[in-house]
Amino acid sequence: MSNLEFDTDTTPRTPSKINFFIFIAASVAAIGGFLFGFDTGIIAGAMLYIQKQFNLSSTMHSVIVSASLIGAVIGSGASGWFANYFGRKRMLMAATFIFIVGTLSSTFSNTIPELIISRFVLGLAIGIESFVTPLYISEVAPTEYRGGLVSLTQLAITIGIFTSYLVTAHYAEAHAWHSMFCVGIIPALLLVTGLFYLPQSPRWLCMKGLTFEAFHTLRKIRQTPDVSEEIDSISESVNEPDNWKMLFSKWLRPVMIVGIGLGFFQQVTGINTIIYYAPTIFRIAGFPNNEVAIMATLGIGAINVLSTIIAIPLIDKLGRKPLLYFGMSVMMVSLFLLSFSFAFKDILNLQWVALASLLVYVTGFAVSLGPIMWLMFTEIFPLKVRAFGMSIVTSIQWLFNFMVSLTFLPFIEYLHESITFSLYATLCFLGILFVYYKVPETAGVSLEKIEHNVWMGLPSRDLGKK
Ligand code: BGC
Repeated sequence: MSNLEFDTDTTPRTPSKINFFIFIAASVAAIGGFLFGFDTGIIAGAMLYIQKQFNLSSTMHSVIVSASLIGAVIGSGASGWFANYFGRKRMLMAATFIFIVGTLSSTFSNTIPELIISRFVLGLAIGIESFVTPLYISEVAPTEYRGGLVSLTQLAITIGIFTSYLVTAHYAEAHAWHSMFCVGIIPALLLVTGLFYLPQSPRWLCMKGLTFEAFHTLRKIRQTPDVSEEIDSISESVNEPDNWKMLFSKWLRPVMIVGIGLGFFQQVTGINTIIYYAPTIFRIAGFPNNEVAIMATLGIGAINVLSTIIAIPLIDKLGRKPLLYFGMSVMMVSLFLLSFSFAFKDILNLQWVALASLLVYVTGFAVSLGPIMWLMFTEIFPLKVRAFGMSIVTSIQWLFNFMVSLTFLPFIEYLHESITFSLYATLCFLGILFVYYKVPETAGVSLEKIEHNVWMGLPSRDLGKK
């Protein structure tokens, strides 16, 4: 029975439906994902021209690419507390403001130090946005559609990356890397406008003791008067003790293992060596000039978007784990093929094999680790520590991203491409074992039920028990 005095409506509860309002709320929030994708993707093409203009060493190349990643490590790691204190919506606003500052300063950068600082600032925003967007969406989504709606963020990331490749192609002839960065201002302004219309997260409102506001916000979001049961269950989970130190408690150890493990495998299996360095890889594989390499990169961006679209309805229907097994196996096989194509590059003309294996690899990622890691980050943490927990695992995930991006060029220089890609393939295999032994199936399970399982002390693999 509801403990809310103002709840007099006795309409029987029907399962939550996806409605226009939720869809719009999730879509607006997902523009944050677009910015994340755009600003991480644009560096791949822009670097070709920055490199030429400043005649950079491969170390300097890696430093510029990595500056935003360090920003993201710090931005995500430092903002968990703020997301709890000020709320998810205000954090999205703050991140967008920082995006605008970082975009303008990248655009007007004329020296390498200026560029590094601007990319760092952009990184701070990317880091905050990368966990607050999925967090917000998961907190307004009905259980039945949570997977698909949260994965809109990943779809937006891939559209952002693809758009960044299109923008690169557009400005390639003019070598106009300043203009490439500048385009990011358009989605940032769109997001600022959209954010004014977003409601606060009802779960955050409950956590702040604003149950009355939460009740009305949830009614609006669900477009039904009967939300008392959901509010009750959210309020119950809010009663759990609140302390970020709890993240290191015995109770949350299984959750941290899943979060850190998924972040580790999402990155060390090499996705961003492709996303950030695709044109460079294509040049090494034998494509004749930057323009052709950029065209091939467009193919990568397009397949990333299309495969994510296919994955979204399957995440709730087939479940998270089957998709992870499938996608990661595809990634592993294609990485071995890529490694093979580089091993025999001098004897056979294998540039098309390299392109095909990269396309297949990206498809595998887009139906598995891409959307599912972000989704699970939102699902496994109890509400009281969700923002803290997500901020920590997201930050660690960015750290792995940084490590892989920084080491990729030296690896291919000193170890050889074929050994480097075999290494990522082997890590895919270990990742599949990790999913089997440690990752829970969370499809169709409410956030509150997962939370209950955490407090019951179930092992990580069983956290999705119904
Ligand atoms: C990853 C990014 C990656 C992108 C590619 C995201 O899920 O976190 O590191 O660049 O997918 O689509």
